[in-house]
Amino acid sequence: MPEQRLSDSNQYTRNESISRVQPHRDLPEFYESRERRAEFVARLFDGSALYYDRISAVLSFGTDRAHRKRALRRAGLEPHMRVLDVATGTGLAAQAAMDLGVKRGQVVGVDPSRGMLHENQKRHGIRLVQGRGEWLPFADASFDFICMGYALRHVEDIGILFREFYRVLKPGGRVLILEITRPESRLGLLLGRSYLGKFLPAVARILTRGSDASKLLQFYWATIAECVSPETILGALSSSGLENVERRRLGALLSDYFGMKPS
Ligand SMILES: C[S@@+](CC[C@H](N)C(=O)[O-])C[C@H]1O[C@@H](n2cnc3c(N)ncnc32)[C@H](O)[C@@H]1O
Repeated sequence: MPEQRLSDSNQYTRNESISRVQPHRDLPEFYESRERRAEFVARLFDGSALYYDRISAVLSFGTDRAHRKRALRRAGLEPHMRVLDVATGTGLAAQAAMDLGVKRGQVVGVDPSRGMLHENQKRHGIRLVQGRGEWLPFADASFDFICMGYALRHVEDIGILFREFYRVLKPGGRVLILEITRPESRLGLLLGRSYLGKFLPAVARILTRGSDASKLLQFYWATIAECVSPETILGALSSSGLENVERRRLGALLSDYFGMKPS
């Protein structure tokens, strides 16, 4: 079973100098109040963990695994590195790191969802810790590389998240964040809303016989549409102390964010 090491003390929540940035406005159509959001998100991922890899493949038209690998390579991942996969889910990013030569024993995954951790454990055999990106249960300067795939929109505060990344990275360590970005054009938004927000949830409802997968897809689109801008994300990365911060775009929807802890 995953270790139960949820940290309850976060030095940064008391640090006034941190820029606090919620990834999106509250979405009362999905959860009652801000306090219930984390619980709602965990329940959603618990309930769709079994289907997650298939959802990811369908959403990306089968390109998701190759994209994770390509992004990790471009961000400078090397086989000797100790890697933390934040929001590891079923372990697709962790597997991509291992496909690039990182040894199983060098990869640690962290995620709050028991369901996702269970699926991950069945598939990859990496060390797993139940926890959240904003309160990482690891010592300072423990990792050479942090990746976070498609989960930035689910954390409570990206300012706190990035300070935690900074804290647990070794000097010279790297951060890669994979995200889906709200399309800029009206047509892109319309297509996104119709395909991601309506069509796919309807298909998922039928194929998964009413599981949480359909709700997950609706929530997915809502958080993409309401997510803070790429400039805000870049600003929060810089404010955390990370350097060489940049965004690489892939098509209208995908953004990879990169940062490095000064040596
Ligand atoms: C869309 S999945 C991404 C899984 C994986 N990273 C990938 O690339 O496929 C989002 C994951 O974020 C996790 N998550 C939600 N809130 C989180 C938080 N505050 N900190 C870390 N992970 C979180 C969910 O449990 C879920 O496993």
